[in-house]
Amino acid sequence: MGHILVTGSSRGIGKAALDALAARGARVIGHASRPVGSDKGVPIIAADFGDPLSVQALWEEALEIAGGAIDVVVNNAGRFEANRLDRSDIEWLDAWEDTLRVNLTSAAQLSRFAVLHWQERGVPGRFVHVASRAAYRGDSPAHWHYAAAKSGMVGMHKTIARAYAKDGILSFAVTPGFTDTSMAGDYLASRGGPGLLADIPLGRVATPQEIAAIIAFCALDAPPSMTGAVIDANGASFVR
Ligand SMILES: NC(=O)c1ccc[n+]([C@@H]2O[C@H](COP(=O)([O-])OP(=O)(O)OC[C@H]3O[C@@H](n4cnc5c(N)ncnc54)[C@H](OP(=O)(O)O)[C@@H]3O)[C@@H](O)[C@H]2O)c1
Repeated sequence: MGHILVTGSSRGIGKAALDALAARGARVIGHASRPVGSDKGVPIIAADFGDPLSVQALWEEALEIAGGAIDVVVNNAGRFEANRLDRSDIEWLDAWEDTLRVNLTSAAQLSRFAVLHWQERGVPGRFVHVASRAAYRGDSPAHWHYAAAKSGMVGMHKTIARAYAKDGILSFAVTPGFTDTSMAGDYLASRGGPGLLADIPLGRVATPQEIAAIIAFCALDAPPSMTGAVIDANGASFVR
């Protein structure tokens, strides 16, 4: 087993995934938007995805750390910031572009580098894309950009799965509902707090560890025939 690159692993779901993968003995490389050094011996590479050039720099640094072989890429980094329609045109457009860049374009850039890397070396590889329930259900009125980015990620995931299965390149996607991270905490508070839980038959939001267990399964265990799958984890709040 080579190395697993997990983006957005400084906190929340990515941090839980990093811990779960490391606990399984995987050699993990983490990532954050800002320099944070290492986490219990796991290197954490800094790259702000707001800068298009940062993704290539991240990939190259990760390859160097990995000795030239990365086997799994977990596209997890993401932002969730409100973009109200009554902002100025330029503010609204800037926020749209920022979220699409961080949540979708950076994952696409990284996926392209990884596919080329695996094809050039003639080796198999795996993706785990952390999308969202919003990809299918949509999101709040101030989050068109977030839902659009996550739907785009699911479309990209399915395309990769179909295009490269013949090369042994597999793609899995996870679509969490509310998960107990700072991202969800801010959102829950902004949307009326516990009242939102009424929409979740399970009666609670997911834990980062639950989503991490799915990520680790996809990265390490999922049988190849599952490629192209999208795995929901939303407490039955959106059953499809
Ligand atoms: N929490 C939920 O309810 C929920 C539900 C569905 C899907 N998701 C998805 O799950 C993923 C992880 O979410 P989370 O709740 O764990 O979020 P989180 O706790 O807010 O962590 C976000 C991670 O993404 C990184 N990130 C944010 N902006 C970035 C940027 N500009 N450049 C590079 N990295 C950046 C952060 O790095 P820094 O620490 O350096 O900022 C952090 O590691 C996201 O893709 C999110 O959309 C979350």
